[in-house]
Order: sequence, then structure tokens, then C-alpha cells
Amino acid sequence: MSILLDLEDEQRLLPAGAAELMQCVADACAVCEAPAVPLVAHVQLTDDEGIRALNAAYRGVDRSTDVLSFPTVPYPKGKTARDCKALLEQEWDVEWGRCFIGDLIISLPRAAEQAREYGHSLAREVGYLTAHALFHLMGYDHMEETDKRRMRTMEEKALAKAGVSRTTDEGLLQAARDALKFSYSPYSKYAVGAALLCPDGTVYTGCNIENASYGVTMCAERTALFKAVSEGHHDFEAIAIASEKNAPWPCGACRQALYEFAPQLRVLVTWPDHVEKTTLDKLLPCGFGPKGQATEFLG
Ligand code: THU
Repeated sequence: MSILLDLEDEQRLLPAGAAELMQCVADACAVCEAPAVPLVAHVQLTDDEGIRALNAAYRGVDRSTDVLSFPTVPYPKGKTARDCKALLEQEWDVEWGRCFIGDLIISLPRAAEQAREYGHSLAREVGYLTAHALFHLMGYDHMEETDKRRMRTMEEKALAKAGVSRTTDEGLLQAARDALKFSYSPYSKYAVGAALLCPDGTVYTGCNIENASYGVTMCAERTALFKAVSEGHHDFEAIAIASEKNAPWPCGACRQALYEFAPQLRVLVTWPDHVEKTTLDKLLPCGFGPKGQATEFLG
């Protein structure tokens, strides 16, 4: 049975696509938990002060946090929504035609801060927090180590199903190092791997592919980019580039190709014992994009 998120007019506070991503996460949580009755959860978006006040008033914890959940159902210890049909039915809401499982409250500024830390979009962070809160609303908790593992497994399953993950910079760098192993570079013997991160968490990898007719060679970054664009992706958050020798800063052609889609792209490069991070607009100042030259230089 499905879980519906009641977002009301909170939706207008969210970036484009975030509400849809949250509902997609809720759908995935429903598939993983498989409750016997249809559920609805209310979503409230607030700021750090708003969530601090709620945390203090209802939990006696006087500090702000990223997400809070207030379940309606008193799940018996060790039981979750799938085992509690009768308890859920007591929360039947005639208007929704679903059982109301409680409130999920997110601090948007805190989510934005965490999104920056993880180097991904606010939409993805909000999706991530939604899964955590929904499993709380379905009876999961993380007080004891075994409960924590059980909750974490469910979250990971649902997030993977919804294509939402917190890809860390280290995860993306490792994906680039792994991609390097497929490099076809018998002429230069300079292997390069790249991993390109989309806002929905999808990662496209690429390697350099050389040719006996040298000029036909394709760089790792553009291999990854063209794979992604050819599957309908036009937005990108970050690219990691790896070599086994020295700093694999992207060549001019790759900078230009990436700039077309993501001038603000974060660029992470790694080679043995080194990681450096910057952004594409720093690597390609006054860049020429689909709208012409960067507006700050148009005068
Ligand atoms: N290469 C890349 O894959 N990315 C770049 O941005 C620069 C160069 C590859 C192309 C070629 O196979 C090898 O490195 C040596 O130029």
C-alpha cells in the first residue's frame, strides 16, 4: 500500500523537482515496508528556529536539528507499520481515505547546509531526510545498535530504489579511480577516469579511449558527459577525475563541453596522495555558454 505526502502549500518553499523526489522516496519506502493499509504523512518545512522550538516543546531538547518526526501510532517495541494494521486503522482519516501516520518536519536552511557539505542538491538532501523521517513514522528507531542497523538497511533500500543517495566526494572520487581501470590508452599510457554526478544521484563514469589515429581519442570527462547526456541528463553537480600519475586537470575541450550544461559544476581531481577541489567557472573564466559569454563580463 502506498504512502502519500501531504505537502499542502509547503511545496512553494522547495526547489524545482524536490516535491516530486520526496514523493518518489515515499513510494519507495512504501514498497520496502509494505504496510497493509494506505498511509498519509503531513510535511512541514521550517527554519532552524522553528525546528528548535518544536524540538524543545515536544521532545525537551532545546536545539535545532535537520528533521523531526512525530508518529501518531504507538508501535509496540520491535514492531513496525507492516505488523500493525489494527493500530494504523485507528488513525483512519476519512478525508484522505488513508491512515495518518504523523508529521515530518524539515529545517530547510539546515538541509541546504548539509546539501552543501555533501556536495549535492537540496532536493536530494530533502529526499534523504524524508526517508529517515518516514521510517520513524512507521515505527523504526535508532536507539539501540540492532534497531539502528535495521532502520539503516530499510533507508538504504528505499533510497536506492528512489535513486537518491548521499554520494560523498570520496565516493565520487573512488568511482573515478575505479573507472580509470577501463582506460584504453596504449599510446600515451596516461590512464584517466571520470565520474559525473547528476542531481538525482546517478553517477556516470568514463575513461579515456585512444585510437591509432591519435586525434580521434576521447577524454574520460567527455566519455562520462556524453554517456549522461545520451540518457537524458542535462544537469550535473560534480565531476571527479582520477589519474595514477599527476594532476588530471581537465583539458580545454572538456572544460568547454562541461560548461555547456553546468558552469557551476564542482570539479574534484585526484592522483596518488592528492585530492584538489574547485569549480568549473574558475577553470574556465569568461566561459562561452549557450547564452553567450558569462553575463558578468558582458558590461
Ligand atoms: N585525457 C583525458 O582523458 N582527459 C583530459 O582532460 C586530458 C587528457 C587523456 C586523453 C589521452 O588519452 C591522454 O589523456 C593523454 O593526453
